[in-house]
Amino acid sequence: MEERKGRKIIMFPLPFPGHFNPMIQLAGIFHHRGFSITILHTSYNFPDPSRYPHFTFRTISHNKEGEGGEDPLSRSETSGMDLVALIRVLKQKYAEPFRESLAAEVGGGEKVCCLVSDAIWGRNTEIAAKEVGVHRLVLRTGGAASFCAFAAFPLLRDKGYFSTLDSRQDDPVIELPPLKVKDLPVVETNDPDELYRIISDMVEGVKSSSGVIWNTFEDLERGQLMDLSSNFNVPFFPLGPFHKHSNHLPPKTKSKEDNEITKWLEKQDPKSVVYASFGSLADIEEKEFLEIAWGLRNSKQSFLWVVRPGLVRGTEWLESLPCGFMDNLGHKGKIVKWTNQLEVLAHPAVGVFWTHCGWNSTVESICEGVPMICTPCFSDQRVNARYIADVWRVGNVLEKSMMDTEEIEKVVRSAIMDNGNEMRDRCLAYKERAEKCLGENGSSSNYLDKLVRDVLSFDS
Ligand code: UDX
Repeated sequence: MEERKGRKIIMFPLPFPGHFNPMIQLAGIFHHRGFSITILHTSYNFPDPSRYPHFTFRTISHNKEGEGGEDPLSRSETSGMDLVALIRVLKQKYAEPFRESLAAEVGGGEKVCCLVSDAIWGRNTEIAAKEVGVHRLVLRTGGAASFCAFAAFPLLRDKGYFSTLDSRQDDPVIELPPLKVKDLPVVETNDPDELYRIISDMVEGVKSSSGVIWNTFEDLERGQLMDLSSNFNVPFFPLGPFHKHSNHLPPKTKSKEDNEITKWLEKQDPKSVVYASFGSLADIEEKEFLEIAWGLRNSKQSFLWVVRPGLVRGTEWLESLPCGFMDNLGHKGKIVKWTNQLEVLAHPAVGVFWTHCGWNSTVESICEGVPMICTPCFSDQRVNARYIADVWRVGNVLEKSMMDTEEIEKVVRSAIMDNGNEMRDRCLAYKERAEKCLGENGSSSNYLDKLVRDVLSFDS
């Protein structure tokens, strides 16, 4: 497009929905401000580009040129890997192909304003961007509070917090109130040293960037953003919530399943439904799955539950549910493989969101004024859960270790019947503040104006 000439931005998302979605939303925001967008995406988890007709997609493959065929990384190589191992492999395998793809894009003639890469890619993207003389902005898809904890990893390690995780679970982390030891953003892994390397590479990559873009807003995380920016000598751009910016991209086409979910929600009373979903990466044991199923059923509340294939370890989908479980539920409960979460949370029938507290889910719930039941699984989700419960006070924590049928039944029922209202009011207040931040002269709008000015002034 002629009018976007000289305004090209290259984006490099991490290939998981919790990272790809906010990058695509950010692409929509830049596009609306007159930029053209090229997305360099790994062959691993490559998306369907026809869903995003405004953007140009380029596959970067770790296969040698001419080898062709399906990318082996998506099949045998990754099966059974824990998340830390998977990220290590992605970073290793795609570093060189990314460098080559970026050089090809930049050498293509059209001026490139900057690269926006996911923070987890770390300093590899810094080296590649320097080589071709392009400024690099970083998108951090998680919140500022959890980033404070990541940035404190060296200190926490020196103080011995990581070696006593099991024995001091309920102790406060005095350096990072209100976190407790059990809230530290670790991941279950066979290779804790590698986790430490990934985190420190992310933090160093942020420090050496030309700026950090956050999917958060000042009225939610002002203190944490200020703490971080006093230690990081780079500009911060908290532009969130991304999904609430008007970007004028075509709406997603609705699938048959989406329509069925909407129809089902239409039949429920206002604020009566528990929406349960644990994001795109977390998995649970079969025992936990059954406790959740019975707890939801026994609560006698209506529920919509996303059970992603792969959510329950060692099973395909719902085969471990007892025979007739669904039939006995009647219209009270609905289990689906995936849904349009933004639409579900915006529906007036939804009363509470039982979530793993991924950052996107957290922001999406807050922005619809829906209080939460928090069952964090790993990493930043633990920090998010503590902030949801103790700082913003828009949810309660239901720890995985406490999750038996009776406890679930009790927590779910009380979230809908008793204490939902106060939390909902607080959540609605945050929803309003988010809208203000996005409005004229709001902080997110002002940061976006500044970001656009900065990007246009980059001299690469
Ligand atoms: C991961 C980490 O878990 C999270 O903590 C980190 O901040 C980002 O990466 P994920 O586990 O997928 O993300 O959770 P979350 O951040 O909540 O992202 C899930 C995304 O998938 C959300 O945007 C949500 O709207 C979407 N989603 C989820 C759907 O559209 N449909 C569904 O059925 C479930």
